[in-house]
Amino acid sequence: DKGLRVSDKGYLNTAVLRSEITYIDGEAGVLRYRGYPIEQLALHSSHLETAYLLIYGALPSTSQFQIFQEEVMHHGVTHADAEQFCRSFRYDAHPMAILTSAFAYLGSYYSEANPSLQGQNIFSKGDQASLALMDKQIYRLIGKATTLAAMAYRVRQGREFVTPPTNLSYTGSFLYQMDHLGEENYVPNPVLEKALDVLFLLHADHELNASATTVLQTGSSLVDPYSAIAAGCASLYGPLHGGANEAVIRMLISIGKPENVPAFLEAVKRREKVLSGFGHRVYKTSDPRSFIVRKTADEVFKITGKDELLETAMALHAAAMKDEYFIKRKLAPNVDFCGLIYRAMGFPLDFFPVLFAVPRVVGWLAHWRQMMLQEGGVKIWRPRQIYVGASKRDYVLIEERI
Ligand code: SDX
Repeated sequence: DKGLRVSDKGYLNTAVLRSEITYIDGEAGVLRYRGYPIEQLALHSSHLETAYLLIYGALPSTSQFQIFQEEVMHHGVTHADAEQFCRSFRYDAHPMAILTSAFAYLGSYYSEANPSLQGQNIFSKGDQASLALMDKQIYRLIGKATTLAAMAYRVRQGREFVTPPTNLSYTGSFLYQMDHLGEENYVPNPVLEKALDVLFLLHADHELNASATTVLQTGSSLVDPYSAIAAGCASLYGPLHGGANEAVIRMLISIGKPENVPAFLEAVKRREKVLSGFGHRVYKTSDPRSFIVRKTADEVFKITGKDELLETAMALHAAAMKDEYFIKRKLAPNVDFCGLIYRAMGFPLDFFPVLFAVPRVVGWLAHWRQMMLQEGGVKIWRPRQIYVGASKRDYVLIEERI
């Protein structure tokens, strides 16, 4: 086996790189973006300021943030053709399928960002021109993520698209474009806008989760960043990852009343059902984001009223936390109970993973940029395997086969 060691199922204990972006201590339940505790950022920062921090490594000065915000908001507008692209899907297409495709579609516009067409790694030279070129793709992807998400939503509604406003905050502009409550001359409710911004910030990055790894695996071939982000979005779509926030609500709806919780947990133990929203590859005590989600939920429910599934969610949480089966497996609630907030805010259920993907574009770009600028240039990711298949054998003609 040439000294190779199987990294066990799902990279359980494999580090593929060194990173300066996000730090997680799964035992202590710690999450820091570029050294800043998530609790402090959730309290004092905004999603867009945190985006700058994650991507460039430092909190921006006032003028740096102003330029960044103006660039991102300016690039929120998409080419008119994108409207036809989004409308080419069936009315009931899952919005994550639309968003995944739309990111790759975006890449078809920007040949200057496509190393395949430029025949070299245009980003990793580290000079001013290549840094500026990289920044432009970053502004476009963050700016257009909300616009494409809102377009995917309006396809379902059969409604006209709206031009992204540039005089609102990033999250306010998203809510305006979504206008998911159908309010005329929409004015974002400041409490709901702030709550969604905190949730965006919480979802911005999470070191080498499955989707960030997918972005880097894909980007390591020097494909354009739009295609790499599309790959990450596809990975996030799965119910074990970003799709879990939708799966949590479907689970709570299937449980129904709190008194059905014990029977449901027994079914989970028999592996007949999945307990979505619990468990995490890294966090083995608690997901620090879940406490901030809880606080945010209290703020939102004051405006929207409590979600009737909340009782069931609380009963499920209390029962699972007392049950030896789940304690032994260290299954604490993860970030994906935020679906209760999205539901209270009126977003459609299958849109919840999109509310995860939009902010996570920031983390994916931070990791992608870090890889493009790494010492020694980009190396393609090509893991090894241990071959355990058939030994050499000769071909048998079909007429001679039994
Ligand atoms: C996210 O990686 C990230 O950082 C992801 C994320 C991010 O910000 O990017 O944090 C976002 O994806 C959060 C996780 C969302 N997924 C879910 O809520 C889906 C439900 N959770 C599980 O599928 C599971 O907990 C995972 C996928 C999250 C983690 O699984 P692991 O690390 O591969 O652990 P495992 O499957 O090996 O489980 C260990 C044991 C097993 O028991 P045994 O087979 O050894 O007896 O715990 C059990 C599992 O069966 N288990 C569960 C369970 N999660 C794990 N049993 C019941 N319900 C669960 N939810």
